[in-house]
Amino acid sequence: MTITTMAARGTVVFPENFIWGAATASYQIEGAVKEEGRGQSIWDTFSHTPGKVFEGHTGDVACDHYHRYRDDVALMKELNLGAYRFSVAWPRVQPDGQGAVNPAGLAFYDRLVDELLEHEIDPYVTLYHWDLPQALEDRGGWTDRDTAYRFADYARAVYDKLGDRVRNWATLNEPWVSAFLGYGNGVHAPGRTAASDSFRASHHLLLAHGLAAQALRAQGAEQIMLVVNASPVMTPAQVHDPAAEASEADAEAVRRIDALLQGQFLEPALRGRYPEEVLRARSAEGGLDHILDGDLETINQPIDLIGINYYNPTVVEAGPGIPADAAWPGSQDVRFSPADAPTTAMGWPIVPSGLSRLLVRLSQDYPEVGLMITENGAAFDDVVVDGRVHDPGRQSYLEGHLGAVHNAIQQGADVRGYLVWSLLDNFEWAFGYDKRFGIVHVDYESLVRTPKDSALWYKQVIGANGW
Ligand code: NOJ
Repeated sequence: MTITTMAARGTVVFPENFIWGAATASYQIEGAVKEEGRGQSIWDTFSHTPGKVFEGHTGDVACDHYHRYRDDVALMKELNLGAYRFSVAWPRVQPDGQGAVNPAGLAFYDRLVDELLEHEIDPYVTLYHWDLPQALEDRGGWTDRDTAYRFADYARAVYDKLGDRVRNWATLNEPWVSAFLGYGNGVHAPGRTAASDSFRASHHLLLAHGLAAQALRAQGAEQIMLVVNASPVMTPAQVHDPAAEASEADAEAVRRIDALLQGQFLEPALRGRYPEEVLRARSAEGGLDHILDGDLETINQPIDLIGINYYNPTVVEAGPGIPADAAWPGSQDVRFSPADAPTTAMGWPIVPSGLSRLLVRLSQDYPEVGLMITENGAAFDDVVVDGRVHDPGRQSYLEGHLGAVHNAIQQGADVRGYLVWSLLDNFEWAFGYDKRFGIVHVDYESLVRTPKDSALWYKQVIGANGW
């Protein structure tokens, strides 16, 4: 098979020690939801609620990674991966979200880590990728302050088991999504829909991050990160011309959405303060009484890396009289606009330059921490034909975005590595198995894995540290 690249060999070379890998998350791939004492998570409840997930799909079996992890690790090795980011399912470790740990649940991750290390693949553990124990949701979930303290206990328990071998720890994955899709527009579990709840949830998630970061550091964790769904916010004209002028009203729309998306998480975590725009929106939606004295100090723990999940830019402009989007309380008068760019199967615009801009800016704003691409990738409608999956769209997406990372590094951004989303096709939340993000195709009948052309290309890129 010929693998085509857009640039000649040797044109794009990444720094020595650049980390290459792939990412997944527990509920999206593991299956085995009732095995070895695992408790119920909010995603089990949500996916089994009619009408919440595409065609009633659930994570009951998913990729059956729980039973096939050895083969999956062998596949990672085959693809040259040097790092693998996975998440731990809290309800496997503490079925009710608190109290005694379930040794059988933790043992799975223990085996997985050993398997990775045996194959010289560096594990990146994410402690929370959205599968909150249902028992905690029943007591208020992330709107309840206590959940943050329970999370710190859980983090300690996982570190106790894996900390002797795992160097890289992420507390939360995309807290914006947990808070605003889970408690704001209800498109994700637990499916609640109140603006005030989403702000409370977002604060308690941050508190959970701070408490867990403190606990992990005290136990000796080497690298701690917070993973955010970062996205550069811009006007339609700025998609292709960053210097394009914006009216004062458009600039205000950009500032507000940027603060709600990035600032709301990065400013408290790295600077110990909330942006003004966020405080204003919160005051209007239920007030600030959930922010207690000392919380911002707790949240503002030293961390080593910001994990960046980038898929597309966020394009906005002023639109007087537009009511706030349920996922964006505080966004009234803002219109979310399409970008003039080709799209993936998710309908998300493909704008690699957005990633360079984001990385350069974050590196300037937070020079004391490194950056790591913890997710980047694309869904396309892939099919297996004669044992192959031709996915030129994904390959070109990856090449474009890797080029953007390289470009940002050349502009001085401190980017340490790149983890593609995702290793495997998997349960894409409310879209079920309908959207395929993997570089490896999964046949959900037979569970057979087939590396797509993009995976074979990625393997070469890793081998050459560029192209
Ligand atoms: C980010 C999330 O972390 C991941 O779980 C999801 O599958 C991808 N985005 C694609 O939507």
